[in-house]
Amino acid sequence: ELSPIDKAKFVAARRAADYVEDGMRVGLGTGSTAAWLVRCLGEMVREDGLKFRGVPTSTRTAELAREVGIEVISLEEAKWLDLTIDGADEFDGELNLIKGGGGALLQEKIVATASDQMIVIADAAKEVHALGAFPLPVEVVPFGWTATRALVEETLVSMDVMGRETTLRMNGSQPFVTDEGNFILDLHLDRIGNPRQLAMVLNQMPGVVENGLFIDICDVVVVGHGDGRVELRD
Ligand code: A5P
Repeated sequence: ELSPIDKAKFVAARRAADYVEDGMRVGLGTGSTAAWLVRCLGEMVREDGLKFRGVPTSTRTAELAREVGIEVISLEEAKWLDLTIDGADEFDGELNLIKGGGGALLQEKIVATASDQMIVIADAAKEVHALGAFPLPVEVVPFGWTATRALVEETLVSMDVMGRETTLRMNGSQPFVTDEGNFILDLHLDRIGNPRQLAMVLNQMPGVVENGLFIDICDVVVVGHGDGRVELRD
């Protein structure tokens, strides 16, 4: 028996899996909700003979996809994707997102942007009026990361985005390292007034590789509820 939160994630994933058709090239997201999707798709491959190829957005997802019997290819092999299905940490009324709670934002953004369509699967608790209660992940190169952090903080103050603090994501006593060998700064902002502007400003900074704001990338959000209901936002 699933907990309400897992049930919500599962029903959203199950519904989104129906978007996948024979012959498609599909980006596979990262995180606990995306893991439900990968397991659903694996079952459809094994039991219904669904034939598609998946491009994973992390080593974790690649391992799970292979384990459940999905044919895994690289983005280079796929060249372009029909569809990407991924989770999110927050989504707003314009279907803009915060992602990267799982640390895979860079590959996730590359894969989603290389897709005709991005579908997000999320439990209802992730819907917000304004993005920012969830700390915004920013991927930075390890070289000079303290200088990059200082620049980020200075810029946030000058933009009047009141940052409480910027923390280096840790993995035990060591910095968390992404699949691309970078670090993650988590920006505790509370509320992001202008996500589009913030996303652009962050990506202009030397040392910043990518940020977790997904603006105008998501086309549909499949929202799951703990009682099994599913809603679509598009
Ligand atoms: C991974 O880097 C993230 O972007 C995930 O998509 C996000 O953290 C959602 O994860 P859950 O589905 O586990 O909440």
